[in-house]
Amino acid sequence: MLSDDQDRALGVCYYPEHWPEETWSQDARRMRELGIRFVRIGEFAWSKLEPARADYQFDWLNRAIDILHAQGLSVVLGTPTATPPKWLVDEMPDMLGVDADGQIRKFGSRRHYSFSHTGYRSQCQRIVSELAKRFGTHPAVVAWQTDNEYGCHNTTLSFSPVDLAAFRNWLARKYQSVDALNKAWGNTFWSMEYGDIDEVELPNLTVTEANPAHRMDYQRFASDMVIEFNRLQVEILRKYSPGRDIVHNFMGRILDFDHFALGNDLDISSWDSYPLGFLEDRSDNSDEWKSRFARTGDPDFQAFHHDLYRATSKGRWWVMEQQPGPVNWAPHNPAPRSGMVRLWSLEALAHGAQTVSYFRWRQAPFAQEQMHSGLLRSDGVEAEGFHEVEKVQKDIRIIKWPAQALSQVAIVFDYTSSWAWEIQPQGKEFDYFRLIFDHYRILRKLGFSIDFISSQTRDLSGYKLVIVPGLFAWTPQLRQALVQFDGEILIGPRSGSKTVNFSIPDQLPPDLPTEILDLKVSRVESLRSDCPVKTRHGKFRFWREHVIAGPETKVEFATSDGSPALVRQNNITYLCGWPDGHLLQSALNGLAEAAGLKTRRLPDGVRLRRSGDLTFVFNYGDCDFDASGLELGECRLGGTQIPPSGVSVFESG
Ligand code: GAL
Repeated sequence: MLSDDQDRALGVCYYPEHWPEETWSQDARRMRELGIRFVRIGEFAWSKLEPARADYQFDWLNRAIDILHAQGLSVVLGTPTATPPKWLVDEMPDMLGVDADGQIRKFGSRRHYSFSHTGYRSQCQRIVSELAKRFGTHPAVVAWQTDNEYGCHNTTLSFSPVDLAAFRNWLARKYQSVDALNKAWGNTFWSMEYGDIDEVELPNLTVTEANPAHRMDYQRFASDMVIEFNRLQVEILRKYSPGRDIVHNFMGRILDFDHFALGNDLDISSWDSYPLGFLEDRSDNSDEWKSRFARTGDPDFQAFHHDLYRATSKGRWWVMEQQPGPVNWAPHNPAPRSGMVRLWSLEALAHGAQTVSYFRWRQAPFAQEQMHSGLLRSDGVEAEGFHEVEKVQKDIRIIKWPAQALSQVAIVFDYTSSWAWEIQPQGKEFDYFRLIFDHYRILRKLGFSIDFISSQTRDLSGYKLVIVPGLFAWTPQLRQALVQFDGEILIGPRSGSKTVNFSIPDQLPPDLPTEILDLKVSRVESLRSDCPVKTRHGKFRFWREHVIAGPETKVEFATSDGSPALVRQNNITYLCGWPDGHLLQSALNGLAEAAGLKTRRLPDGVRLRRSGDLTFVFNYGDCDFDASGLELGECRLGGTQIPPSGVSVFESG
């Protein structure tokens, strides 16, 4: 192990505008003493930077950056476009977003804008240009964060007249003629035909459900608006701030724009990790599970997003905001168990994060987030998280961080599929994220490290096992990649069940040629959670498919009512429903065996991450875990007996 921490670093989110200027130098000094390398600032400061139109007040920011620089700290400068100031909103009130129920998203918090508003886009271009001209070549500024958490607070979709006009333009570019649009959407149904693209409505406030194809295009349009909005800033920053990285901070379980597409325009992907807030706020698990992991967070949720956002990056990714203590925004906001801030940090780094940055330096005594902890209390005294960060600094120097490599197992993650099943769940539990997460969790229980790959992936070589659950429609690339791949593949449920125009494919799902998979889904049913369908290895819950399996296939086993449950043809296996944990574990175990992969049986709270020659073991559980049976090699950090919140690192020979 080398004492070389060059490629792993810690950062912090800091709001100099919240504190008297006299405190800035001391803050910067304490950050340096803590070993912080990156400080993210400025992302909500528009009203301080431009209190009235064209009245630019940048000197304070310059002084703050200089002070940080004097301590050797590097700055990630945020563009302030998530918080347009009051004067700007008053100048053009139609920039405000509108909810699906027609409510205006008023000024007074944040993210109160529509991505498609051209006037607002110009104002963003203006403030970003001014900032980039002033600070773009400052030696402390090493990176820019665009905006803040696109899509957070449900703000990707907006239903204002401005959005309607932009949507019609988008449709005109896509379809060229109204006939093509009517045909693609199937508008003969219910007399929904339009005579002109300029007659198309927004898909909200309809009497009953709107056409799924219409909604899908609206979702695609909205996603494109986020990408365009971001790109405008990226272009300016590249021009005036050469050589600096551009980063955006994604959020947990936000799916309504295509993060792969956005990640393409960035140098670094990042995300904001709030394990306890997420467990309370966005987990599908039972109350019993939530209470078990209330002070640790779900053992798979953070890792899931580390792996997902690594996949959206070109290789470099960060955690931009790491929970340091209790937050303020979930239904309950407990304190992390002692050791968890360290564990979360090391877990991110083990999954390949280059930097973990804590939100925030000091707790604010005022406004919306006054109950949100920081590394310092609001009185400036070190909070509990501060001391865990000191430990992380030491750990970073002990561990010899390996270069990133492919995992053996990959899951296809596709944002359009998430939109599709939200638009047409067919059974209320059918949620794409939940389906993928179920697969992810069981694979991790079996001890695997996992990569996510997009549905645009052309080449699967390098993987031993690829999983494709719930894919809305095949892309030509992925279909081709499947044909060429000789590893094991698990497909279904519901994969290939639509065309890109949101219709049932002519040859029925899963819409693959018979030489690849000689199987047709002839009927689907969604199931009440108390009406599962049994198989000898576990149950289908929420969803099952009746399939006709052709002569090229082998039915591995059937449901208790005699319908194929798992069907195999060469290296492709099709799963005919939404499996419970037992069924999924048995199916994945079988496939792993066929792929020549070694599986383990980990307890709920223990997870592994393999990285080069190192295996990290994380204990989210509430009792000691003895890792000696896992035969992971020489212990380099921690011990083979891993206490609750403990992290151990092993090196194989
Ligand atoms: C994030 C956001 C931060 C802060 C934080 C509180 O979603 O980016 O600005 O609000 O949550 O946990």
